[in-house]
Amino acid sequence: MDQAALRLILLGVFLISASSDPVKKKQNVDIYSFYINSMVTSRYATTVITSRVANTLNESQEIQFEVKIPKNAFISKFRMTIEGKTYDGVVKEKEEAQQLYNQAVSRGQSAGQIKSVGRTLEDFKTSVTVAAFSKVTFELTYEELLKRRLGKYELLINAQPMQPVADFKMDVHIQEKPGISSLEVKGDLSTGDLANAIKTTRADKDAWVTLYPTQDQQTKCKSCGENGLNGDLLVTYDVERRNPKGEVMVSNGYFVHYFAPSDVPRIPKNVVFIIDRSGSMHGRKIEQTRLALLRILSDLDEDDHFGLITFDSEVNLWKRELLKATEANLKNAKSFVNEITDRGATDINAAVLAGVDMINRHPREGTASILILLTDGDPTSGETNIEKIMANVKKAIGTKFPLYCLGFGYDVNFDFLTKMSLENGGVARRIYEDSDADLQLQGFYEEVAVPLLTDIQLKYPVGTNLTKTSFSLYFNGSEIVVSGQITDNSVESFTTEVIAVSKGNNVMYQDTILTKDPSDVPPENEDFMQRLWAYLTVKQLLERQVILKGQETEDEKKEALKLSLKYQFVTPLTSMVVTKPQEGDVEVADKPKEGEAQPRPPGEKLLHFQQHHHSPGLSSAPAAHPGLREMLKVSEYILVCLTLCCIWLCSVLAPTVRSNRFLLPVVGQSKLLCFDVPVPHKLRLLQDSASEFYMNGESVTGQNGFHQITFHYKTNHHLTINTTSVRYHEGQNQVEFLWGQELTQHNTEGVSLILRSNEIDITMGNIHVVILLHKEKREIFLWPAVQQQPKDVSLTGILGKSASLIKHLSTHQQFSNQIVHFDLEDVTDYRLSSKPVIKCWLVSFYAAMQRDISDFTVTKL
Ligand SMILES: *[C@@H]1O[C@H](CO)[C@@H](O)[C@H](O)[C@H]1NC(C)=O
Ligand SMILES: *[C@@H]1O[C@H](CO)[C@@H](O)[C@H](O)[C@H]1NC(C)=O
Ligand SMILES: *[C@@H]1O[C@H](CO)[C@@H](O)[C@H](O)[C@H]1NC(C)=O
Ligand SMILES: *[C@@H]1O[C@H](CO)[C@@H](O)[C@H](O)[C@H]1NC(C)=O
Repeated sequence: MDQAALRLILLGVFLISASSDPVKKKQNVDIYSFYINSMVTSRYATTVITSRVANTLNESQEIQFEVKIPKNAFISKFRMTIEGKTYDGVVKEKEEAQQLYNQAVSRGQSAGQIKSVGRTLEDFKTSVTVAAFSKVTFELTYEELLKRRLGKYELLINAQPMQPVADFKMDVHIQEKPGISSLEVKGDLSTGDLANAIKTTRADKDAWVTLYPTQDQQTKCKSCGENGLNGDLLVTYDVERRNPKGEVMVSNGYFVHYFAPSDVPRIPKNVVFIIDRSGSMHGRKIEQTRLALLRILSDLDEDDHFGLITFDSEVNLWKRELLKATEANLKNAKSFVNEITDRGATDINAAVLAGVDMINRHPREGTASILILLTDGDPTSGETNIEKIMANVKKAIGTKFPLYCLGFGYDVNFDFLTKMSLENGGVARRIYEDSDADLQLQGFYEEVAVPLLTDIQLKYPVGTNLTKTSFSLYFNGSEIVVSGQITDNSVESFTTEVIAVSKGNNVMYQDTILTKDPSDVPPENEDFMQRLWAYLTVKQLLERQVILKGQETEDEKKEALKLSLKYQFVTPLTSMVVTKPQEGDVEVADKPKEGEAQPRPPGEKLLHFQQHHHSPGLSSAPAAHPGLREMLKVSEYILVCLTLCCIWLCSVLAPTVRSNRFLLPVVGQSKLLCFDVPVPHKLRLLQDSASEFYMNGESVTGQNGFHQITFHYKTNHHLTINTTSVRYHEGQNQVEFLWGQELTQHNTEGVSLILRSNEIDITMGNIHVVILLHKEKREIFLWPAVQQQPKDVSLTGILGKSASLIKHLSTHQQFSNQIVHFDLEDVTDYRLSSKPVIKCWLVSFYAAMQRDISDFTVTKL
């Protein structure tokens, strides 16, 4: 590190800030821009958060950057830009970073180290001193492999910039080769007025979700307030699964195999619930446990067998044997559950051994056995030596079935539970003490409720350095992921082989793909598979640390450290270090550790995002309306005419572009309608007479898009945008900006302009439009995108015909003969800077607009 420069070890203080750090509105700091960009390629999500902040004070001050990221993610990059200089974080071995930290402390510089974890998110926080009227840009990148739970992948994004931000954008792009089968947007950020600022676009293999709220909207959601956005957006989706053998991708010497067959019958299960009823479970915990158990019992299938054990210092079996889940047995079991009350100490050893014994005595051919332990405390009775308990349990289970441990609250020894479950092929899960604890318990049960396969082994003849390849159980709704390297990069085919047991029968899935197939991975993402492999390898190596002993522990730890350093992941073995300009403040960015006892203040905000708790912000789309397909059939004859017209236009008009194709969302459909407008034209794009707002565009012969777009607002505001500049007049005042500049803003009464390198956000009154500057095949042109249809405003113009008209069309048969053409066509969606090509239903101009094109032309821009 440069000795001349004062040093700072990045910061990365982790804490639960939502409650411990009451949010204050900082008047002297202007967060003028905040972007969250999430790219998901084949379940691997890379999210970049960029915050641009200005010090509006006439003296230097400390400016903070604080964000929450999912626990499962690894931070992989951090950068600050101050006065044109960038300061990149470097990931170092923890000890090394700690030394730098200690040196700074001994020099008497302030230091702070707080670590903590919330339920689903971790805090990342840093700060830097910024000179008077100067700006700083923070950029943080994190990566994670999305896990499939209950049939869905979940991408959780938190936004809490601490003030309304003039230029806020959240962009999510999901790219899945087998196709996206469902997509939903939930979470607090999809509630209230904010819901109007969310836009989802879907193509077969791609989906985009954008949240571009105005400053006003940022204060209007369930958890938002005068400090702006505060909450999560949860994007859930699933992919098509046409091939039961799974999905394989090969790229640059790496592969990944996603295995999640669903065409398999469920296996009857033997499940034993071991329930802690020691004194500490008193009150709400025991009530919630009872409630969850009652629901779980109702969910058992009739061919399942189950057992119930409660324990304190004594172990109490409901029945000595596992019983079939018949109606009578369930009724009986439910009254037993209703009688569970808290008392006494905690004898985990005896209770778990009793559960194991119960399953061992039961015939298990063709079934799947599962042991579930729920406890909220340390062993305090009977055998209390943790090492001995683990040895006893491991010996008794003998790898025959998994043990899942649920740790209720923060008084449990979570390390112990984690270790004991991992040693026995299961996982430990924390149940957070909160009003939804019963739902958390039930949610966990649902994940393991439908076993489909047991004893799964995955084999890859030309694979090496593989992640985990053997699994004791595969449950419906989950997914097995294996990644690795390819021994011989010149191989032309790649074979996968899965052997498993389904209801007592051996089954095999074998598949071969040609590696020469063109990969659908876009070039900018080519290394994602390598990073995915590294991510999964590090995760699994770290997980195994818990159960390994001696030299093996050291070797695997070294390997995990090596990979963390190579891929710059902030893991429990590494910290991030940043050199900053002026200070010597030292703090260390560590990944917090699950399982450390942390007092969690009541009502903590982070608790909102368990799987079942999302308010359905955007209600799911209703089924495809029956009328449209039918009405479009009626009018096929006009199609012929249209085609002829096109040919005619083709010959008359200039060589390349004949028309601009516009997209229209359809109520209740994931696909979009589109229509063509021939060029050249001067068009009324958008109009709101009530607020005296007009947007016009001019296209030129043979060219895409528009070469000039003008805005007129309330007689005294005029904005002219062409492909080189943006000119704005307000009365006598005029300003001009050139494209390709640094982020620039201009605000006046009722008008806000935010100019980025290739797009400009325009807000006039409550109308919000974005003009994008596209470069394509040596052509430069403009494209307008209406970010949202404001409420209570009836917009007219080419882009003003909103979904309401289409709704009208699709529910009124009498319009049917006006729809000209119904066919899936490709369209480039120029409303996004990524210019995705998606499918749309092409209709005639008249069918879309209900008027002639001449009604939309203007003589003067
Ligand atoms: C900052 O501004 C305040 C009042 O506007 C003034 O009193 C103060 O001297 C200024 N500080 C500096 C460092 O210029
Ligand atoms: C597995 O889950 C899917 C929905 O996620 C469901 O359609 C299917 O029936 C389930 N399979 C079994 C065996 O329950
Ligand atoms: C597997 O990993 C080891 C250690 O990282 C490495 O030395 C080796 O080259 C890898 N194998 C292949 C085939 O790349
Ligand atoms: C855009 O407008 C400016 C100012 O009127 C003008 O100087 C420039 O030539 C225009 N650019 C194009 C490509 O028309």
